[in-house]
Amino acid sequence: GDFERRFRFVQEVYEGVRNAVGGAYPILIRLSGREYLEGGREMEETRRIVKRLEEIGVDAIDVSAGITMDAESFTWLTPPASFPQGAFLRDAAEIKREVGIPVIGVGKIRDPWFAEKALAEGRVDFIALGRTLIADPAWPNKAFAGATREIRRCISCNRCWSILYRHPIRCAINARAGRERAFPMTPVIHRRRVAVVGGGPAGMEAARVAAERGHAVTLFEKERHLGGQLRLAVVPPFKRELAWLLGYLKTQVQKKVEVKLQHEVHAAELLQGQFDVVILAAGCLPPEPSRLRDPRVIKTWDVLSGKAKVDGNQIVVIGQSRVACETAELLFRRKNKNVTILHSGPMEDFGKDMEPIFERRLLLDRLDASAVKIYHETSFIGFTPEGIAVKGSYNGMVPCDRVIIDDFPISNNALLGELQGRMAVIAIGDCVSPGDIYKAIHSGFRASYQVS
Ligand SMILES: Cc1cc2nc3c(=O)[nH]c(=O)nc-3n(C[C@H](O)[C@H](O)[C@H](O)COP(=O)(O)O)c2cc1C
Ligand code: SF4
Repeated sequence: GDFERRFRFVQEVYEGVRNAVGGAYPILIRLSGREYLEGGREMEETRRIVKRLEEIGVDAIDVSAGITMDAESFTWLTPPASFPQGAFLRDAAEIKREVGIPVIGVGKIRDPWFAEKALAEGRVDFIALGRTLIADPAWPNKAFAGATREIRRCISCNRCWSILYRHPIRCAINARAGRERAFPMTPVIHRRRVAVVGGGPAGMEAARVAAERGHAVTLFEKERHLGGQLRLAVVPPFKRELAWLLGYLKTQVQKKVEVKLQHEVHAAELLQGQFDVVILAAGCLPPEPSRLRDPRVIKTWDVLSGKAKVDGNQIVVIGQSRVACETAELLFRRKNKNVTILHSGPMEDFGKDMEPIFERRLLLDRLDASAVKIYHETSFIGFTPEGIAVKGSYNGMVPCDRVIIDDFPISNNALLGELQGRMAVIAIGDCVSPGDIYKAIHSGFRASYQVS
């Protein structure tokens, strides 16, 4: 129908609610500024709607974005990691200029200073928080107390959405979300001496929660820094928000746990009787590119860690995983390399380990729009002086200066065999089987509750 007929729907709903709650009760309406859908609502019509909403008596407008119709519009509902903070505040600010009633802004507001700035500049009258509160329900209290370093900022991975359809709410980085009764934040009855081996996300989360509940925790990390693979995960473009998680875990662990850096712990030390329980979170060993032996070959891990210098301009990345795709994007976007990705499987398997709507789709769109070439169903057959020979959907030679290989990492579980049967040991995270940040955090969290 036309504008008036469509508006009648919301007007009748409003009038029904108003009759039920009375004149003094505040009624606010949430609507998307734009629907990000072909033929969908744009700001021009939204401006008209909000004026009419004010006229009929609505008390406040809450401005979000998108609609659950297709992947593109759905993406705007919960802006992912590649979107900026305050992704649709500009629409809220535009609406505020149209109406005299309060306007509420929402959408990827993660930093208290950012929220404060939007309010101080008069862009909105209130701030609403969605995933920000799922990731850290204490966000408002911490912000109010000025304890911003204590905040666990949502990393916009949208695992809460994908899981919502099958389970109660879950959060990748707040493992207690939706399970508050099963995992109460209560002090332990028996204080145990806990050794955590490995300072990656699983180990840090296990150490953090075990210490918070009252256990005496010592964390051993063989490297100079805490973080494990999370230190590599933050490197590619659009992954910066993972650094928030890294910073949060480090702050918490350094406050509550005895941390021993550059300390590669062996079974003999753990078996000396100083510890009641070992939580083994030794992560993965970097993959060995044993398949290809050529001085031009570099591992993705070494590119991300900066250990290997990627000389030359023509680069081939062989692989299909998230790490391969993100390394290719890093080399193209930040290092201005000419990148070709070689993938022996079908298109559907490419980047399959990524979240499909908010991560894989957007990354493939970005690669599509870039000069990165992707050869699917094409296999490496050998090195030539100028590059590599390939066969499959593309046959011939791909010129290249460097070949980046993404092999599978290997679980580092040697200590498990040495400790099992001799003392209490709980193995978690990548040292059991390589996984993502959700799996690392959740296994670390659960392990801390298994200590009894
Ligand atoms: C699990 C989940 C469920 C949501 N359900 C709704 C909903 O029913 N109606 C709605 O308008 N927005 C819904 N949203 C969107 C949020 O209210 C919010 O506008 C959006 O997540 C952006 O804010 P944030 O970055 O703080 O999460 C939902 C978001 C999440 C993560
Ligand atoms: S699952 Fe990811 S997007 Fe959802 S609240 Fe947790 S960190 Fe944020």
